Amino acid sequence: MRHTKVKDLLNSTTTLQEVNAKGWVRTFRNNQFIALNDGSTINNIQCVVDFENTPDETLKRITTGAAVSVTGNLVESKGAGQKYEIKVAKLEILGDSDPEKFPMQPKKHSLEFLRENAHLRVRTNAFGAIMRIRSVLSFAVHNYFQQKGFVYVNTPIITGADAEGAGEMFQVTSLPLENLPKNEEGTIDYKKDFFGKHTNLTVSGQLEGETFAMALGQIYTFGPTFRAENSNTSRHLAEFWMIEPEVAFNDLDANMDLAEDFIQYVIKYALDNCGDDLKFLEGRLLEEEKSKPQAERSEMTLLEKLNFVLENNFKRISYTEAIDILRESTPNKKKKFSYIINEWGADLQSEHERYLVEKHFKCPVILFDYPANIKAFYMRLNEDGKTVRAMDILFPGIGEIVGGSQREERFDVLVEKMAALGIDEKELSWYLDTRRFGSAVHSGFGLGFERLVLFVTGMTNIRDVIPFPRTPGSAEF
Ligand code: 4AD
Ligand code: MG
Repeated sequence: MRHTKVKDLLNSTTTLQEVNAKGWVRTFRNNQFIALNDGSTINNIQCVVDFENTPDETLKRITTGAAVSVTGNLVESKGAGQKYEIKVAKLEILGDSDPEKFPMQPKKHSLEFLRENAHLRVRTNAFGAIMRIRSVLSFAVHNYFQQKGFVYVNTPIITGADAEGAGEMFQVTSLPLENLPKNEEGTIDYKKDFFGKHTNLTVSGQLEGETFAMALGQIYTFGPTFRAENSNTSRHLAEFWMIEPEVAFNDLDANMDLAEDFIQYVIKYALDNCGDDLKFLEGRLLEEEKSKPQAERSEMTLLEKLNFVLENNFKRISYTEAIDILRESTPNKKKKFSYIINEWGADLQSEHERYLVEKHFKCPVILFDYPANIKAFYMRLNEDGKTVRAMDILFPGIGEIVGGSQREERFDVLVEKMAALGIDEKELSWYLDTRRFGSAVHSGFGLGFERLVLFVTGMTNIRDVIPFPRTPGSAEF
């Protein structure tokens, strides 16, 4: 017999004869009521077991985590909070789950404990909700760009380029480390390795993406990227997913418009399509808030926060204006920041970003025109000769969610910049061809997908919004 998804049963408009549902037992109450979940929705369906006519042997096997198949009529429920339930006529245990050993018991587990059980945590309500929202958000990403006629490009995972020039790469080799070929000086000779050159896992698909934008006009990537930065924070992963649109003939203003419109679209899409899951996570957060002192409680609920982002324009200010605000907000001797910015040209720390977004403007902020020396080589130099057409989008509770720029389209200026930074022109000759042949103004950005999922789910640790997190010292599963 074909089984029906729990979601469809709960959304039924009539009672039904002889339905079958398969799923995992969340709880079993009074030897009678199974709360059954099959992952199609956060909601469980109640299955009422005829315990008088069910052997004790079978009843004992209905434990949290067990896989079961139930067949019976879908009838109106007398219980509160549910329209329908299944009156079980036939029950089959598909897979037992020993209650003494199954770690996901129906009680509140700490997020740390759940992280150690990433292969099982998805069986909890919260992680089921997060992973469904993540899936819907990735569909929304494709929807947005496909509707606008962008071409989806799969840029390579193994590459010779360090797109960000930050040297935070995982090296790739086909050989056991002790067998790496050496040259006469005793240093590693990558020419004799698999690709005949040194390669690494990509930190960004941008450079390859630019070559496609200069032919297809508007493109986007959406794939895994890797950073070997030793940042053990709640915002950094060693393996994360990035969305990188790149558009020919767009300047920085058009780039900001695109980023803002895109973010608002995907958040709206989640609000329209993940109602039950978002409400559940909002309730979970409200519970958490109760244990905090009044002053530390959030002013908005999760849904209010998401709607706020849709209804309000992002505030756009230059780096220079931001520095002025930060300086003024730190009156003499009153220390607001652990790191006080005195010099124009310093990079902002996350405490500064959060101050601007959460305390000063109280809305998402787009910072643009950063000092050239703190940004990547490919960004377009402004007429002032010291700032570049960069933009970062900062979000409340998250900090940087997007990094992007208008690209340096002038061949000579770009080559000069690369030389100054010691970037080998020959290695990136293919990239420079975009500037040699038919160069034009173009721009793009990268959005860290997990930071978006963090914002939408209201979670606070990036390890909790990716199925199997990779962080320094941790690559379980
Ligand atoms: O600012 P980033 O380094 O910019 C780039 O990689 C550009 N090539 C993008 C482009 O213009 N096409 O990274 C972009 C975004 C950040 O704003 C952040 O959201 C996310 O990627 N990100 C990370 N997310 C999780 N863990 C990390 N270690 C991240 N590093 C960056
Ligand atoms: Mg950045």
